[in-house]
Amino acid sequence: MQVSGTLTELLRSDCATVVLTGAGISAESGVPTFRGKDGLWNKFDPRELATFSAFMRNPKLVWEWYLFRRELISKVEPNPGHFTLAEMGEHLSQLHIVTQNVDNLHQRAGSTNVIELHGNIERNKCVECNAPMAEFEIDPDNLPTCQCGGRIRPDVVWFGEMLPEAAIETAQQEAAACKLFFSVGTSAEVYPAADLPMIAKKNGAYLVEVNPHATPLTPYADEVFAAPSGEAMPLIWHAVREQSS
Ligand code: APR
Repeated sequence: MQVSGTLTELLRSDCATVVLTGAGISAESGVPTFRGKDGLWNKFDPRELATFSAFMRNPKLVWEWYLFRRELISKVEPNPGHFTLAEMGEHLSQLHIVTQNVDNLHQRAGSTNVIELHGNIERNKCVECNAPMAEFEIDPDNLPTCQCGGRIRPDVVWFGEMLPEAAIETAQQEAAACKLFFSVGTSAEVYPAADLPMIAKKNGAYLVEVNPHATPLTPYADEVFAAPSGEAMPLIWHAVREQSS
C-alpha cells in the first residue's frame, strides 16, 4: 500500500481535514458492522429494534438489544485506527472527526473533537422531554421513566429519525470547507451522512476512502486504501510523520 505524495503533502500542510467514520473502523475492535458479511442487520430486523415505533411497541425488547450492544462495547478496546486519529488530532489543527458510530471508541482512544451524527449508546434520554438521564444500569423488566412520566430511551438516532441538528449542520459546513476528506469504514449507503463525502468533493476536496470493500463512493475517491483501517490509518500517518522527521 503506497501513500501518494499529494496525500502526504496535504496532511503536512495541516489543511482543513474531515474524517467520516462508520462501523468498519470499530470492526477490528470486535464490534460487529451492520451490513458486512456478519453484519447485525443480517441477523436482526432493524424494523423491530432500531425505530421509534418498535421502541414504543416493545421497549423491553429494544432495551435488551441496546444492553446487549452496551455489554459488547464495554468489553472491547479502541484499535490502531481510532488511536491514529486521536494522534492526528494532537498534531493537526483543523481535523474534524464525524462519526456515525455510537460506540464511544473515538473518545476512549483520546479524540476530543468528535461530532456524533447518530448519538451515543452510553447516554439515555426521555422520549417526551428529551431530558438526559444518567442512570446506566437499565433493568429491561423494570424500565425507568422520566420525572415527566416519559419513557427513557437510548440516546441514539433510529431509522426514520432526524439527526441532531447541530451535529449534521456542523458536519456539512466542515465538509464544504475542507481540503481533505477521509471516508473510513462506512458503506456510504445511509443518508444524510453519505452525502458528506460528495459535499466535500463538489467543493474541491481531495477524497480518500479506507475500506477493504468497494462502496458506491469508491468511483469518486481520489485515493483508495482497500484495507482494514487499523492498518491503513497508521500507514498513512506514519508516511506523513516520516517525511516530517
Ligand atoms: N476497516 C475499514 N472498513 C471496514 C472494516 C475495517 N476493518 N471492516 C469492514 N469495513 C467496512 C465494510 O466493508 C463496510 O463497507 O465497513 C463498512 C461498514 O458498513 P455498515 O455496516 O453499513 O456500517 P455504516 O456505514 O457505519 O452504517 C451506517 O447505518 O445501521 C445504521 O446507524 C447505523 O451508523 C450506522 C449507519
